[in-house]
Amino acid sequence: MHFSIIAAAVGAARLTASSPAASTNSTSILTTAGAQAVIPGWHLQSSNNVSQSVIALSNAGVDTSSWFRVGARGSVFAGLLESGVYNDTHLFFSNNLENAVDYSAYEIPWLYREEFALARQPNQHYFLQTNGITSRADIYVNGVQIASNKTQVGSYGGKKYEITNALTDGQNAILIVAYPTNYLRDFAMGYVDWNPYPPDNGTGVWRYVEMAQTGPVSLSDPRIKTDYEYTWRNAATVTVRIDATNNGDQAINATITAAIQGPKGSQVTTVSQPVSLPPGQSKTVSMITDLSNPQIWWPASWGSQPLYTVSVSASISNTISDTAPPRRFGIRHVSSYVNSYNDTAFNLNGYPFLVMGAGYAPDVFYRFDVNRTRSQIQRILDLGLNTIRLEGKQEQPELYDLADEMGLMIMAGWECCDKWEGWDYNEDADGVKWVDADYETANASMLHEAAMMQTHPSMLAFLIGSDYWPNDHATQVYVDALNKMDWPNPVIASAGKLGYPALLGPSGMKMDGPYDWVPPNYWYGDQLGAAFGFGSELGAGVGTPEISSLRKFLSAEDLDDLWQHPHKDLYHMSTNESSFYDRSIYNDGLYNRYGKPKSLEDYLRKAQMSDYEATRAEFEAYVAYKGNERPSTGLIYWMLQGAWPNLHWQLFDYYEQPMGSYYGVKVATRPEHVVYDYEQKAVWVTSNALNSSGMRNVSIDLIHLNGSSISKSTSSLDEAVPNGSSNVASVRGINSIHDVALLRLRLAGENNVTLSRNVYWLSKENDVMDWDNSTWYNTPVVKYANMTTLYTMTNATVSVSTKKSGSSATVTLENKSGMPAVFIRLGLVQGSAAVESAYWDDNYVTLFPHEKLDIGVKWRTGGAGSPSIVWDGVNVPSGKSSLG
Ligand SMILES: *[C@@H]1O[C@H](CO)[C@@H](O)[C@H](O)[C@H]1NC(C)=O
Ligand SMILES: *[C@@H]1O[C@H](CO)[C@@H](O)[C@H](O)[C@H]1NC(C)=O
Ligand SMILES: *[C@@H]1O[C@H](CO)[C@@H](O)[C@H](O)[C@H]1NC(C)=O
Ligand SMILES: *[C@@H]1O[C@H](CO)[C@@H](O)[C@H](O)[C@H]1NC(C)=O
Ligand SMILES: *[C@@H]1O[C@H](CO)[C@@H](O)[C@H](O)[C@H]1NC(C)=O
Ligand SMILES: *[C@@H]1O[C@H](CO)[C@@H](O)[C@H](O)[C@H]1NC(C)=O
Ligand SMILES: *[C@@H]1O[C@H](CO)[C@@H](O)[C@H](O)[C@H]1NC(C)=O
Ligand SMILES: *[C@@H]1O[C@H](CO)[C@@H](O)[C@H](O)[C@H]1NC(C)=O
Ligand SMILES: *[C@@H]1O[C@H](CO)[C@@H](O)[C@H](O)[C@H]1NC(C)=O
Ligand SMILES: *[C@@H]1O[C@H](CO)[C@@H](O)[C@H](O)[C@H]1NC(C)=O
Repeated sequence: MHFSIIAAAVGAARLTASSPAASTNSTSILTTAGAQAVIPGWHLQSSNNVSQSVIALSNAGVDTSSWFRVGARGSVFAGLLESGVYNDTHLFFSNNLENAVDYSAYEIPWLYREEFALARQPNQHYFLQTNGITSRADIYVNGVQIASNKTQVGSYGGKKYEITNALTDGQNAILIVAYPTNYLRDFAMGYVDWNPYPPDNGTGVWRYVEMAQTGPVSLSDPRIKTDYEYTWRNAATVTVRIDATNNGDQAINATITAAIQGPKGSQVTTVSQPVSLPPGQSKTVSMITDLSNPQIWWPASWGSQPLYTVSVSASISNTISDTAPPRRFGIRHVSSYVNSYNDTAFNLNGYPFLVMGAGYAPDVFYRFDVNRTRSQIQRILDLGLNTIRLEGKQEQPELYDLADEMGLMIMAGWECCDKWEGWDYNEDADGVKWVDADYETANASMLHEAAMMQTHPSMLAFLIGSDYWPNDHATQVYVDALNKMDWPNPVIASAGKLGYPALLGPSGMKMDGPYDWVPPNYWYGDQLGAAFGFGSELGAGVGTPEISSLRKFLSAEDLDDLWQHPHKDLYHMSTNESSFYDRSIYNDGLYNRYGKPKSLEDYLRKAQMSDYEATRAEFEAYVAYKGNERPSTGLIYWMLQGAWPNLHWQLFDYYEQPMGSYYGVKVATRPEHVVYDYEQKAVWVTSNALNSSGMRNVSIDLIHLNGSSISKSTSSLDEAVPNGSSNVASVRGINSIHDVALLRLRLAGENNVTLSRNVYWLSKENDVMDWDNSTWYNTPVVKYANMTTLYTMTNATVSVSTKKSGSSATVTLENKSGMPAVFIRLGLVQGSAAVESAYWDDNYVTLFPHEKLDIGVKWRTGGAGSPSIVWDGVNVPSGKSSLG
């Protein structure tokens, strides 16, 4: 096969090419000083398929109609998917990504080429702005080399090149030669053990390349500082900072003007500052103004997200020389400190901010769809999470815009294990050791990303290291770059505690596992990843998709492997070199605790129970223990979602479908909640809300599986504890459990309003762990809890009634029997397909005898036919009811 796939597809692309070639467009891409334009698309080709020299190819007039026509940003492989050479539905199925692609096609450079028209104007300067090209590139304009693979380096190496002298009046051409990426040699976006690598390792123009026209003075992106901390006063001082550069050969006096608009678009204030610029020089200009009655920005769960807009221009004798693209900012204050246990804790607008987050994965081919990202953030907020961690995958600028608008915090940072951690002292990282030029790439990368992120209120912190901490030289480079960009948020040396650079001190973040399955009581221990301090990446490794998603990417044989070969290597788990290529630890837990599965369906139900228990306990423990003497200060679940269809490490799957792991988190992060502590056998009332007030009542019911009561008690709090947690009672009767019992906790506020209700299945004895034999990814279990009796229960009778209103419905479940109805899974389907946009208030619920529960669901309309509700449970036969 080898290269013939590509060659054959070139022919196909020629036939279907529909986008007009740029050479037919004679409209100038730039017309005024202060204008910016994105290179609107590219012709893409392998260097293997071209015969002309790069110089010839970079001149206008070359016929590239046989090349692939791709969008304005995308890796080589993303471009081939876009062009229909490959089909991701097919590649994601079973082992196809491994077998159906010739990887050697990506061991040579690929070319991105575009032509554009320009009406060149006198006394103007023209710039080419890159925002990172993976991972090294030569850039040519009209036969002139603008950058080489020694200067345009790294996925984040955004650079601004003046190209005035290379441009011509009329048709121009730009050619980018993207060199193959090796994650160990290059500053790229590696996946380490997350998933199989994309065939091209992400090579290419993955972010926009922009052009700009200016007069003699050009501007950088603006930066914003505010003096708002948290004490209220009726004004906030805002400082707008921007770098102005005189690109000409004469001294210039320019005026820099910043206009700030309020959240509703009203002009709030304009402030100007003169600047004298000798030829060739840059100066930073600061403009200070007071905003009266500032509107404060909050994360979603704490308030609204008012955004101000700043527009900055430079003028010379009242003629505009440059305008910076408008940037939005929010007025808010983030800080962090290392407490007496050397654990990092965050404050947001003066309130202790328990980070409840998860690790974000981009698309495996680094494709970006703003609508997909928006719906992922909706899922994240629905999960009750307040933060995502970006480990070396800083994504596109729109991610930050959405996070600002929707109120999600972002903990950005560099990645572990590969080139990014190739510091001299680090014998553990596989990355090629840094040489002088690498510090320059680190500097360019940090400057560019900090400039992109600086104004965004959604930024929580930047972690300049991941598993390891940067050596002193790299730390200085990163910190200087962040300071130069007026970084207003915490800078943390690493995500782990292995060591730290003198300049920054201890990171206060632990990376002590687990990454693979541990039982629920793990989190209530006092070692490793248990609920104390800040866990920067940890979890029980769960996140098994439901069958509707599994069928999209697993063959019948793969599905058999899932439940029949519990220790087998699985292509959709991780990379074949990693500790997570099989589900042995997970399945040992599942088989031992829930019993050997009898079918795929049985396996998946047990998996969802296991996953739900795992994520609920992790988040509940971190929330409950935030008031402990050594408090939990934050956690990042490993991970949020997969870069491709994945079998683990996720809270929703690649198709954005929630499952057990999702609803476990959603319960645990409720604004007010009531938690069972598996170790202390106690009940905690928790609040993640700033405004909890009034009396709180807790009812605690423990029953046998036959429905008879073991204990029943109530407890109350005279006053709720906002943003806090409180141990309110111990559960009686745990010692009377025969095999398995069910514990229902209910938290009620004033007027008996239910704030939280939640059921646990508890075995007679907790799992017993061998902490001393822990590895970096797991703590072994030496005696498993025994949940098997759950699968011997007789059926409960549950009636399901629905009330639909537009694109939402209330589903009323009523248990008509004296038996509990365990782990009822609700689904919304249209025909036989799951409605992917369904949001359930709660799911995978357990009903006590004769209990009635209303559950809301809403969805986005669309698709043929009206949806139906489907359900089943451990001892509840499956059913279906049309919503009419
Ligand atoms: C032609 O180029 C201009 C400037 O880049 C752009 O605004 C316009 O949409 C293009 N027209 C077509 C038909 O591609
Ligand atoms: C992509 O592959 C899937 C599964 O193999 C197939 O059903 C679909 O028709 C393909 N799409 C295209 C555009 O060829
Ligand atoms: C940089 O470009 C040169 C050709 O100019 C090439 O020989 C070299 O392999 C490239 N370096 C990398 C790391 O790709
Ligand atoms: C991708 O990077 C890995 C190292 O992480 C390397 O082994 C592999 O050869 C690279 N792939 C290509 C196509 O260069
Ligand atoms: C800039 O302004 C200063 C102070 O007013 C003046 O001395 C200088 O001549 C001006 N320079 C130019 C190039 O206009
Ligand atoms: C915190 O870190 C500092 C610096 O390494 C160390 O001296 C101190 O003992 C640590 N404190 C605790 C409680 O671990
Ligand atoms: C995003 O969704 C909106 C509304 O459905 C649609 O108009 C728009 O084209 C979509 N954007 C992209 C990039 O797909
Ligand atoms: C409070 O509400 C619960 C659940 O709806 C109900 O079981 C209980 O009887 C109510 N308590 C009072 C005092 O009304
Ligand atoms: C660790 O596990 C091994 C093998 O199961 C066992 O022999 C040993 O006693 C365990 N070590 C500790 C400290 O429990
Ligand atoms: C689990 O509990 C059931 C019911 O009591 C019992 O039959 C079974 O032997 C137990 N399994 C183990 C491994 O102890």
